Amino acid sequence: MELKRKDLLGIEELSREEIEIILETAESMKEISERAIRKVPYLRGKTVVNLFFEASTRTLASFALAEKRLSADSFNLSSSSSSVLKGETLLDTARNLEAMKIDFVVMRHSMSGAPHFIAERLEASVINAGDGTHEHPTQALLDLLSLKERLGGIEGKKVLIVGDILHSRVARSNIWAFEKMGAEVSLCGPPTLMPYKIENMDVEVTYDLNEAIPDMDVIYVLRIQKERQKGGLLPSLREYIELFGITPERLEIAKKDVVIMHPGPINRGIELDPRVADGDHSIILNQVTNGVAVRMAILYLLSGGKSGEIAEE
Ligand code: CP
Repeated sequence: MELKRKDLLGIEELSREEIEIILETAESMKEISERAIRKVPYLRGKTVVNLFFEASTRTLASFALAEKRLSADSFNLSSSSSSVLKGETLLDTARNLEAMKIDFVVMRHSMSGAPHFIAERLEASVINAGDGTHEHPTQALLDLLSLKERLGGIEGKKVLIVGDILHSRVARSNIWAFEKMGAEVSLCGPPTLMPYKIENMDVEVTYDLNEAIPDMDVIYVLRIQKERQKGGLLPSLREYIELFGITPERLEIAKKDVVIMHPGPINRGIELDPRVADGDHSIILNQVTNGVAVRMAILYLLSGGKSGEIAEE
């Protein structure tokens, strides 16, 4: 099975079948990272540019590792180290890179829609590594893989996404991803951090965390995005912790095998108590591990690779 697309820009446009192809391929890719020699030739001769105009640890590092493990040639460009600082436009930057013969642009940008704008204008494949408050599709895919591994499946599971929904591209991608895979999604957070008419995405919305928790199989905790907060959306962090922080006391009212997820980076002690982040319910580091496999799978499939054709060692 193959992915018949040039670009991977969002979860919204993916079918369930396409998501399943990516997850199946990622499962095969995971085995490569367990080998003594963690390298295969599937992207030999291909060139990838990681164009990151916003900070990143996990996404940039895991794309860079995925590219190396697939034997691609790759390099990173950031806004602070490119001629964007001298006023060059995003489109001119991308066209100049394409003039050097590249195959992939992996792009993170603070403006929603920036990867879509570039994808329409380049022949190279564009992968959205997070655009503004819109989507973070590779995060949602690694989250699906991690949850599938932990629970054995996603169909029928109840997922509660907690926190700053308004500014969260992870929330938007995950609402689509979990719903397409048959989960029931609910949202919880302060009313000031809940998007207008979010119910139209076919989700339940609640403002009472203690009421919502007991029913849930998964609590997906979002980062409080202090850098995107325009003043006044939160009365105080102390009140936020009291009403929406995920603490060991709150886990006492949860199902005994509830799964805790977070995309990172964590504000320890704000949205997530360190004892929960590092406790038995947490699969946060599994999510990080799976980030490499999912990104290997996407690069492989967009370059024309087929799931089921990955050779075992
Ligand atoms: N989850 C995530 O996107 O993390 P980074 O910002 O570190 O890439």
